Amino acid sequence: MLNHIIDLELLSFSDLQEIIRLAEKIMKNPQKYAEACKGKIMGTLFYEPSTRTQMSFQSAMLRLGGTVVGFDNPMNSSVAKGESLKDTVKVVSGYTDIIAMRHPLEGSAKGASLYSDVPVINAGDGGHLHPTQTLTDVVTLQIEKGRLNHLTIGLCGDLKNGRTVHSLIKTMSHFEGNRFILISTKELGIPQYIKDIMDEQGCEYFEVPTLQEVMSDLDVLYMTRIQRERFGSEEEYQAQKGIYVLDSQKLALGKKSLKVLHPLPRVDEITVDVDDDPRCVYFQQTVYGMYARMALILLTLEGAKYSYAKGKTIIDERGCTNPKCITNHESYMPKEFRKKGDYLVCEYCDTHKSMRNS
Ligand code: CP
Repeated sequence: MLNHIIDLELLSFSDLQEIIRLAEKIMKNPQKYAEACKGKIMGTLFYEPSTRTQMSFQSAMLRLGGTVVGFDNPMNSSVAKGESLKDTVKVVSGYTDIIAMRHPLEGSAKGASLYSDVPVINAGDGGHLHPTQTLTDVVTLQIEKGRLNHLTIGLCGDLKNGRTVHSLIKTMSHFEGNRFILISTKELGIPQYIKDIMDEQGCEYFEVPTLQEVMSDLDVLYMTRIQRERFGSEEEYQAQKGIYVLDSQKLALGKKSLKVLHPLPRVDEITVDVDDDPRCVYFQQTVYGMYARMALILLTLEGAKYSYAKGKTIIDERGCTNPKCITNHESYMPKEFRKKGDYLVCEYCDTHKSMRNS
């Protein structure tokens, strides 16, 4: 059983704590780890554009003394000739010791992990999850707030398509006393399955339409970009763009101890004049992300066995109802589901379908 990192939420509390502790140790003494991955190779398969995730994985591996191969444009690889995800991953796993993959389809990381002979790290699978961004975010919160519990966390913007938002809520809902304030339009609201997770964990959450009305309550504000590339049409995007903008007037309503995070890239949702406010830590966050990934790579290559709490799965040949699920594009992948109440939940993309109607 390989130690893939598909969904951070499946790691145990102690696994997560160990990664955070190691990231802090590396940050304090990077020289000690400069040859920790000597002789190891990372494959970076980026089927979607990326600056931070791709380059922080690459620089993390190089700073650990390892090397990197891969592509940042699948059209420059044999994907352009029609090669399947299975074949690409199988081949690259023969050349490398660990793979970081970003892909536009939901559940693609889980799909890739089925055919890889080395650990696969999910570097973002469509609108689904982005676990290493969440690691970045929790390391940032640990350092900047000094704790991961009893925080009132505002999440603002595209909460529907923002995979970083989904991953962060899933992870932070496990820490005691965290409350979530969800600031979005109805059209860009948080998916039901994330609300279900907050309910299951007993977390308080509120949905509100404006940033101003909650600014003074927040310990953390997590701003997000409206994700143009995930909209069905340009008209739908135009109707949502520019609704939420953090500027100096709104920031003035926040606590002195507030920390503003953003996974970046930003478009227009934070004005540049607040960048130098000490509460805005989104550029430091990108650096913490590199250390978080160094810790993750190191522990994974050292053979850490993450304690995945995985249930029994069943096959339903009728498949997943999510058109963006990898199983609807790479048809050889087994159509695996897990039972949850009256629902079948896709093992790849977490889409729920009713057992009665399926
Ligand atoms: N935060 C993040 O995932 O940024 P990139 O898309 O540039 O990797």
